[in-house]
Amino acid sequence: MVPYIIPLSLILFIIQANPSTGAQINETTIPQGSQINTVGTQSWVSPSGRFAFGFYPEGEGFSIGVWLVTGATRTIVWTAFRDDPPVSGGSILLTAGGSLQWIPANQGSQGKLISAAPNSATSAAILDNGNFVLYDAKKQVLWSTFGSPMDTILPGQNLLPGNQLFSSISNTNHATGKYRLSNQEDGNLVMYPIGTVDPGSAYWASGTFGQGLLLTLSLDLNGTLWLFDRNSSYTKMLFLTNQSLSTSPDSESYYRLTLDADGLLRLYAHVFFKKGREPLTKIEWLEPSSNDRCGVKGVCGPNSFCQVTASGETSCSCLPGFEFSSANQTTQGCWRVRTGGCTGNSSNGDIGPTATMVMVKNTSWSDLSYNVPPQTTTMEECKAICLSDCACEIAMFDTYCSKQMLPMRYGKIDHSSNTTLFVKSLYCSASATNSPGTQGLHNIKMLNLIRRVLASDRTLSMI
Ligand SMILES: *[C@@H]1O[C@H](CO)[C@@H](O)[C@H](O)[C@H]1NC(C)=O
Ligand SMILES: *[C@@H]1O[C@H](CO)[C@@H](O)[C@H](O)[C@H]1NC(C)=O
Ligand SMILES: *[C@@H]1O[C@H](CO)[C@@H](O)[C@H](O)[C@H]1NC(C)=O
Ligand SMILES: *[C@@H]1O[C@H](CO)[C@@H](O)[C@H](O)[C@H]1NC(C)=O
Ligand SMILES: *[C@@H]1O[C@H](CO)[C@@H](O)[C@H](O)[C@H]1NC(C)=O
Ligand SMILES: *[C@@H]1O[C@H](CO)[C@@H](O)[C@H](O)[C@H]1NC(C)=O
Ligand SMILES: *[C@@H]1O[C@H](CO)[C@@H](O)[C@H](O)[C@H]1NC(C)=O
Ligand SMILES: *[C@@H]1O[C@H](CO)[C@@H](O)[C@H](O)[C@H]1NC(C)=O
Repeated sequence: MVPYIIPLSLILFIIQANPSTGAQINETTIPQGSQINTVGTQSWVSPSGRFAFGFYPEGEGFSIGVWLVTGATRTIVWTAFRDDPPVSGGSILLTAGGSLQWIPANQGSQGKLISAAPNSATSAAILDNGNFVLYDAKKQVLWSTFGSPMDTILPGQNLLPGNQLFSSISNTNHATGKYRLSNQEDGNLVMYPIGTVDPGSAYWASGTFGQGLLLTLSLDLNGTLWLFDRNSSYTKMLFLTNQSLSTSPDSESYYRLTLDADGLLRLYAHVFFKKGREPLTKIEWLEPSSNDRCGVKGVCGPNSFCQVTASGETSCSCLPGFEFSSANQTTQGCWRVRTGGCTGNSSNGDIGPTATMVMVKNTSWSDLSYNVPPQTTTMEECKAICLSDCACEIAMFDTYCSKQMLPMRYGKIDHSSNTTLFVKSLYCSASATNSPGTQGLHNIKMLNLIRRVLASDRTLSMI
């Protein structure tokens, strides 16, 4: 199945050129007036046939982007309007006025500019390196997909100082996901969950800050991933692909660096064989390198902790006394189970909510303590200090005691952790459980809560 057939008229325009670097990268030139559409030729293909720009199916409709042709499948490396819903059809046109537009099939609705190029383009091109560009009359690049990276960089596409990659929601939904890789202007390359900027939320960093450098992240055709400073000779190698393993006369490797939907940064090699075999995808390098999927901060929301299941997936669990804030979305975090039912009516035998401390072992958390009692505080004292402090929600003890408020962040199961948590849990006094009527009903709810808390305590102790 080859949905992207190059029209004859276009083959005439395949030339070798790259005036900016001097390096020869073959390209398919797309003159003004050219168009593709979802019912006919869906894409413009680079001369090697490896890269294409155009419509690809996503969800119920189509997205517009650039992909690597990997056998029967495709690997998306760039997407236009990634956060808009897919389009139902239509065409992409390089107009006579030099703008690249998506034109809907339904004549009534409004088209959309795919690039906000400052000047009108005289031609476009899809290059053999995966770059899709708009040229002016002097063949200067007006706009390129390499200039606006999304979740992936390709060889030749640098991540410049101040730029970021944003992960996709999933392999099949390329809208902005949960993680970002920031090439910070302090010289550090850092991964964070989206919506956070504090160093405590970072889950990986290149450690290249504070040297007064503005670094560029670069991937070479041979799979070398490195950082360099344009103004000095400073370079830092992040990964060197073993050429003796990757090069062979019978195959050809295409590399890409992608911040994946799960928050891991992976360097992939797509190996194409000269003879018949289906292409192979290899992971050459990844960070965080432990492949600890729970080490990616933000996998689980506040007050929950992450665990890698037997199948290698992640799952989130609430702290004891908490439940998922959205029952269907276990990655969104947890809130306290409401301790309704306490009337505070002492003549009823109800002496109001009572607090207890529920122990959780073998987890680790981000430490955002608001108070640290003296170093000499023992574990038992730590628990008691928190219990008697209204503001304290959780006592955290490892080598020292600390008092924490909610939310607790970035929790994960960690068998090498010596951290013990004591989670304050509220329940109504036991004497009130003898009361009849609605009070009794409330108390049954409370008893259930206590049972749940105790049950989760048992589960946790067994982990
Ligand atoms: C460009 O295309 C020509 C003709 O197909 C080929 O011989 C040459 O190796 C290509 N150059 C590059 C850099 O891929
Ligand atoms: C290089 O140095 C010049 C002059 O000091 C400065 O203006 C420029 O921002 C620097 N560029 C980079 C990428 O460090
Ligand atoms: C990879 O290519 C770069 C140029 O892009 C070159 O400087 C480097 O030596 C090459 N590395 C290997 C291992 O071949
Ligand atoms: C690359 O792989 C070859 C073959 O497995 C091995 O002999 C060689 O030591 C490796 N080189 C490096 C630098 O790891
Ligand atoms: C949870 O998912 C089920 C099945 O997809 C759906 O019927 C239900 O409405 C959802 N509930 C909430 C609270 O989103
Ligand atoms: C407290 O409980 C007693 C006995 O059940 C009842 O008579 C009284 O009205 C209650 N007071 C309040 C404020 O609910
Ligand atoms: C946990 O405690 C044990 C025994 O006290 C100690 O040997 C170990 O190094 C500690 N682990 C960590 C991660 O602190
Ligand atoms: C915590 O993990 C360690 C190591 O797997 C295990 O020996 C210990 O029993 C666990 N503790 C609890 C309370 O589950």
